[in-house]
Amino acid sequence: MKILIINGPNINMIGIREPKIYGKKSYKELTKVMCEYANEKRNLTLETYQSNHEGDIVDKIQYAFFNKFDGILINPAAYTHTSIAIADAIKAVGIPTVEVHLSDISMREEYRQISYVSEVAVKTIMGKGFDGYIEGIEYLLTKKWTI
Ligand code: DQA
Repeated sequence: MKILIINGPNINMIGIREPKIYGKKSYKELTKVMCEYANEKRNLTLETYQSNHEGDIVDKIQYAFFNKFDGILINPAAYTHTSIAIADAIKAVGIPTVEVHLSDISMREEYRQISYVSEVAVKTIMGKGFDGYIEGIEYLLTKKWTI
């Protein structure tokens, strides 16, 4: 099974940015945790990607289609709350997609209460830090999908 992990804007700054909200661990540590997890699992190939640019994220979602990925785990970061383009891309490719957030956006500012991605994701996980990413991959691995 091939899964693509996409992280949106400023996720490359975790560990530095607002550590009380996003924790003290870096993006490099996040990718390390995910790669170690993938190495323990047979039949799982993970690719990680981070971008600060909306269009590049759309391109990467389409890339997942043309390269036959089975699942996408995405933390769209601030684009969660604004990007119809990212939601449309997820719908367009029809690949099961789990939305993940390090923080619990439901408990934060009002402008974070809207998620366009939630409408097209098979599951949304929030407020569990790095563990949420593992949970999201597990979910993609164990479910059988009909979209
Ligand atoms: C985030 C939550 C978003 O509201 C915010 O803009 C982020 C990170 C999270 O992982 O908690 O950049 O997606």
